[in-house]
Amino acid sequence: MANTSSVLHSLMLIFITWRGSMRCCAITVDPPEDLAVLDSGRLGQMQITWRPPSSLTKMTKCLPQYQLEYFNTYKNNWETLRTPRRTYSTQFDPSKDVHIKVYTILNGECTNNTMIMSKNCAETILKPPSTGILDAEAKAFICVYHNMENLECSWTHSLKTPPSALHNLYFWHKSLDQAVECPSYILSGGVRKGCNFSGKPLPEFTDIYFCVNGSSREGPLKATFFSLQIQNQVKVTAPDKLHLQTSSDTELEFHWENPAGRLPGHCLEWEVRHHHVGTDGKISLNHIHTEKPRLTLPFSNSNERNCFQVRSRLNSYCVDQSFWSDWSHETCHPVLDNREIALGPEMNSVSIYIYVAVVIIVILVVSLCVWAAVNMRKAGPQKKVDSLLPKLLTNNLTQRVSKIYSGKKMCTDVVI
Ligand SMILES: *[C@@H]1O[C@H](CO)[C@@H](O)[C@H](O)[C@H]1NC(C)=O
Ligand SMILES: *[C@@H]1O[C@H](CO)[C@@H](O)[C@H](O)[C@H]1NC(C)=O
Ligand SMILES: *[C@@H]1O[C@H](CO)[C@@H](O)[C@H](O)[C@H]1NC(C)=O
Repeated sequence: MANTSSVLHSLMLIFITWRGSMRCCAITVDPPEDLAVLDSGRLGQMQITWRPPSSLTKMTKCLPQYQLEYFNTYKNNWETLRTPRRTYSTQFDPSKDVHIKVYTILNGECTNNTMIMSKNCAETILKPPSTGILDAEAKAFICVYHNMENLECSWTHSLKTPPSALHNLYFWHKSLDQAVECPSYILSGGVRKGCNFSGKPLPEFTDIYFCVNGSSREGPLKATFFSLQIQNQVKVTAPDKLHLQTSSDTELEFHWENPAGRLPGHCLEWEVRHHHVGTDGKISLNHIHTEKPRLTLPFSNSNERNCFQVRSRLNSYCVDQSFWSDWSHETCHPVLDNREIALGPEMNSVSIYIYVAVVIIVILVVSLCVWAAVNMRKAGPQKKVDSLLPKLLTNNLTQRVSKIYSGKKMCTDVVI
């Protein structure tokens, strides 16, 4: 019995192999059919669908796979993937051509385990809608995620943007059912120039898609599309607690802190601007990169001057990119010089302006007092004259004098 079954088994295998080899060289496969692209109204999220070639329905043993190739309009490259499914969803920039190709692939028993791909493909190119005034779209779109707490996006107008234009910003990511409009627009001169997402957190490490479209009296504006992940848009707040001291006669220690927030400490890196004035008056400027919030520098002479500023950003171990923070205020050693240098030329000129303003105000007040006093002295005899001379002649004078030292009372006098 065992013998017969094994013989049968071998015969079957030979038969299958023979059939396979017969097919192997003759077999070709057709491309998929009914390739369709459906825009789901989520700022370029498109569902691509297709059907297996009808010639394949006879080959029940073959489970086809598909090779999908599409031009990624955000990354500017072709993406290729294989799937046994008949549908795939991905995001396109709908203001550009959407180009898709799908091939059929056979592999397995029916092809003697060799992979066969259709010679031709099903292909489609969607042209962007040609609505909207050309060259009137939003430009220079940028998003800044301030200290990983508050996202602000902004854009500029093109030269051809009509003055009556009103821009709208919409955004979408995969946890949203529909595109959502900006929660709070940033206005500049009454014109929408950006969007403040305060109080509306967006997910990190997720592609966020933005669309800026709009309308104007001349017609709709051309829509523009952008995509980014917000952890790559972080601008840290500048370090604000700087400590500078000599730890010994030969070392200068500088350490600092970033303002408290939800920034992961191990993700920060810093750049220190070191301004050194030697005893000979020679000035040098150094930029020092550091992954720890401290620096120790050799220090030889207490007559030299060292000033520091520091700025911060997220490092490349945590995010793909990050903006530098603003520079911190400056701190110097020795401390006495610190004040002069830290104040800097702008601060000095500010205090000069304040002094000048105070002096002018004092002079004005004093001269007003003197003037008022002089007039009051004059007013004494005036009243006597008033009682003596005809009313018509003096009324004017009295009014003017009273105006100077009792405006309110004067009003009632005049009304009476
Ligand atoms: C089928 O595949 C096997 C192994 O993969 C190979 O040895 C055989 O020659 C193939 N048959 C033909 C006809 O190509
Ligand atoms: C955005 O909103 C935050 C919090 O409400 C606020 O602190 C910030 O100043 C706003 N930014 C602009 C540019 O209006
Ligand atoms: C802007 O885009 C949104 C989202 O797609 C859409 O709902 C809205 O009607 C568009 N507005 C204009 C003026 O085109």
